Amino acid sequence: MRAYGSVILGMLICGAFGCADKPATDSAEGEPGQSAVSKDGYKVRKLDPGRKYKIGFSQCTVKEPWRVLFNELLKREAAKHADVALEVQDADDRTEKQVADVRSFIRRDFDAILVSPKEAPGLTGVVKEATEKGIPVVVLDRDVNYGGYACFVGGDNLEIGSAAGRYAVDALGGAGKAKGIVYEICGGLASTPAQERRDGFHEIVDKEAGIEVKGGLDGDWKLDKGLSIMQDALKAIPKIDLVYAHNDPMAYGAWQAAQQAGREENIKFVGIDGIPKEGGLWVKQGKLAATFLYEPPGAEGLRQALKILRTGKPDARRITLKTRAVTAETVDDYLREMGE
Ligand code: FRU
Repeated sequence: MRAYGSVILGMLICGAFGCADKPATDSAEGEPGQSAVSKDGYKVRKLDPGRKYKIGFSQCTVKEPWRVLFNELLKREAAKHADVALEVQDADDRTEKQVADVRSFIRRDFDAILVSPKEAPGLTGVVKEATEKGIPVVVLDRDVNYGGYACFVGGDNLEIGSAAGRYAVDALGGAGKAKGIVYEICGGLASTPAQERRDGFHEIVDKEAGIEVKGGLDGDWKLDKGLSIMQDALKAIPKIDLVYAHNDPMAYGAWQAAQQAGREENIKFVGIDGIPKEGGLWVKQGKLAATFLYEPPGAEGLRQALKILRTGKPDARRITLKTRAVTAETVDDYLREMGE
């Protein structure tokens, strides 16, 4: 983890991953930018001697290794800044706890709030509340249904879903000729990454007359749910050619179910996240056919919160972290680059 951490930190500063900043949009519907805060941005916060910026981070869960890595990278970034006092709260996968955690940051007058929401509808109100009180909020990875907050940092999930769709079409025979049964396992469907990973994938795959997509159940991003959903699917569907799961833990759970049923050799498994200790490893082992990198946004999020506190504005209102495909052909290079 240490080697990966130091390498990924370098990469997060737009090294090997690169990163594409979309320019700030001041008026686009639904985009961060319709802020309750003045057009000139947030109040620049000058620190009195000896005082630190109080930054609160509300993480929705740490039940998945991707989130543990996300926290670690965020904390390491915070540790580089002597003027930052960071408090991290884990909502334990519960929307009510996450709302209470963010509210507690507001009540205790934190200078900035970072939040990676469990789901969009439940967290929208409290993000708006903080913004209306003048507190800069940086939303990470999963979005809310309100665009007025200060900055979003995360991957382009529509594009990642489309990339997975193009991979599936190629794996099943190529555009216009592709043929087969795809079984889809969704992430938490009240969250924006699951909706976008589904929509991006369908935009590509639904054009293929020879491909039928079944499934679409909500696996809440969890390995054990991916496993049990797939156990049922295997009983009901005699032939499945490819499984598309919205993250690597669910793809791996599905692979385990297929292995128990002796059917794993006939199915290709595709996931998303690509962290070296999970997706990267499972591609290397030949269990997953492909995964798509979904870079943890913690370090960049912390940098943007500080930028807002120091200058009143983030670098851009939407910062999109790049993806890449990890397959049998690319996995060795990928893992080497990640220091594994
Ligand atoms: C972790 C996770 C990742 C996924 C992301 C989507 O909680 O499920 O696996 O890519 O959240 O928000």
